[in-house]
Amino acid sequence: MSKKQIKTTVNGTEHEILVDSTWTLLETLRDHLQLTGTKEGCSNGNCGACVVLVDGKTSCSCLVLAPEIDGLEVTTVEGLADHGHLSPVQDAFVENSGLQCGFCTPGFMIAATALLTENSNPSEGEIRLKLAGNLCRCTGYDKIVRSVQDAAERLSKT
Ligand code: FES
Ligand code: FES
Repeated sequence: MSKKQIKTTVNGTEHEILVDSTWTLLETLRDHLQLTGTKEGCSNGNCGACVVLVDGKTSCSCLVLAPEIDGLEVTTVEGLADHGHLSPVQDAFVENSGLQCGFCTPGFMIAATALLTENSNPSEGEIRLKLAGNLCRCTGYDKIVRSVQDAAERLSKT
């Protein structure tokens, strides 16, 4: 197994990490940076629980190898809050009961944040389409969609 020294910025903090070529970004975050907000569901790109932003784009961190993030910027759910204050997306999920067990929630919050960054006023259909790669077995999705709509409204007032 080969090792590689990488530099990456995670949630605004620069890290130099000696990674194994076989590590995924998901295990790098959870096991080596102790950022356990990002969850491991399927490990094969089908559930969205592990979604993070890599240079602003949503990525399934279970499908990205650690050496691939050399020089790139990663944002996890922990990076959405600002000095302990929840982001409008996080607040909206809490207020609209957009979570139950919470396992899928970090991935949804990241995907919703990316969606609202590129489209500040998405239709319900656009929200459902954009979040189709994120699976939830608890909420039935309606409350998640309402959370994203509420987040869009909150962001429009900031
Ligand atoms: Fe990565 Fe399911 S754990 S998509
Ligand atoms: Fe439990 Fe979505 S809140 S899986």
